[in-house]
Amino acid sequence: MSVPPPIAMLAELTHRCPLACPYCSNPLELTRKDSELDTAAWAGILRQAADLGVLQLHLSGGEPATRRDLTELVAEARAAGLYTNLITSGIGLTEKRLRALDAAGLDHIQLSLQGTDAAMADRIGGYRGGFDRKLEVARLIGKIGFPLTLNAVLHRQNLHQLPRAIEMAVEMGARRIEVATVQFHGWALKNREALMPTRAQARAADATVAAARARLKGVLVIDYVRADYHSDYPKRCMGGWGTTGLNVTPEGTVLPCHAAQTIPGLVFDSIRDRPLAEIWYEGAAFAAYRGTGWMREPCAGCERKTVDFGGCRCQAMALAGDPAAADPVCIKSPHHAALQARAEAFATAEAPEILWRAAAG
Ligand code: SF4
Ligand code: FES
Repeated sequence: MSVPPPIAMLAELTHRCPLACPYCSNPLELTRKDSELDTAAWAGILRQAADLGVLQLHLSGGEPATRRDLTELVAEARAAGLYTNLITSGIGLTEKRLRALDAAGLDHIQLSLQGTDAAMADRIGGYRGGFDRKLEVARLIGKIGFPLTLNAVLHRQNLHQLPRAIEMAVEMGARRIEVATVQFHGWALKNREALMPTRAQARAADATVAAARARLKGVLVIDYVRADYHSDYPKRCMGGWGTTGLNVTPEGTVLPCHAAQTIPGLVFDSIRDRPLAEIWYEGAAFAAYRGTGWMREPCAGCERKTVDFGGCRCQAMALAGDPAAADPVCIKSPHHAALQARAEAFATAEAPEILWRAAAG
């Protein structure tokens, strides 16, 4: 197959973060500050990404604002011609810093929301005072005029706050809200019992999103990541493995998706050893599940195989023990019925204590 260039690159600048969300997509083994790529190395990657054809750069973490060189990196990205989006909790962003980011050419901010009141948000984020700080950052974002997406991460404990989260996005002047039901990788997988929504909660969220989309047409765009353990077909994870996007970890490992290192046997290249274009076009990990050639039944003969590309490889690994299996969320997977039953059992049992994400050293 001919391989298109990637559209988007997620740069995980650091795993350090003042918050400790129990669904963090960072790996359980967090990268320490002294192993992070430095400014010059990141600047080189950004130029390589632009040359490769990447259009959108997502600056992420951990909390990217913990990097003191964030403004410099935004300026480098802008100079390379990349559209830059900052994915942040807002903690660490002062008016002065936001204005510097604006001057450096930052195009867009995606602000995470852990809950719609201080009690919920500060508990889930594990950071007292975080909610009030976030509201202030949202106000400053509006004042400076950055386009804003609110990223509401929802689960068993806060799904009832979805209507208020949508209202908040409108009040903040956001153009878009991402209603993201927790996906169970990394720390979230460790907290599955505490965070799994019930089927009834998942269906109520479907209805809330549908009604809000109709009501807020032309005002707010609503992206929606459903509670997939309660769905019948999987999501097209990463837009298809090795076809749309790539991730670079804080120490420079180039991954097809944020959880790819949970798949045993895959060999990942580092940007310290190989050019980005070579990794994308020739890297073994990218080739492993690109396209449809790796599929077996039921995916190989399925009419949806180029719609969802068999769902999520990392979820197939985590739930079926086989990264080349159909994502067990799929109704055609032999694991589907058991998964749905298990999800409902988790969701209706008494929620265990949350295990918050560890701090990166
Ligand atoms: Fe997708 Fe495979 Fe399920 Fe078909 S069988 S819908 S390709 S996961
Ligand atoms: Fe790795 Fe879905 S998270 S393929």
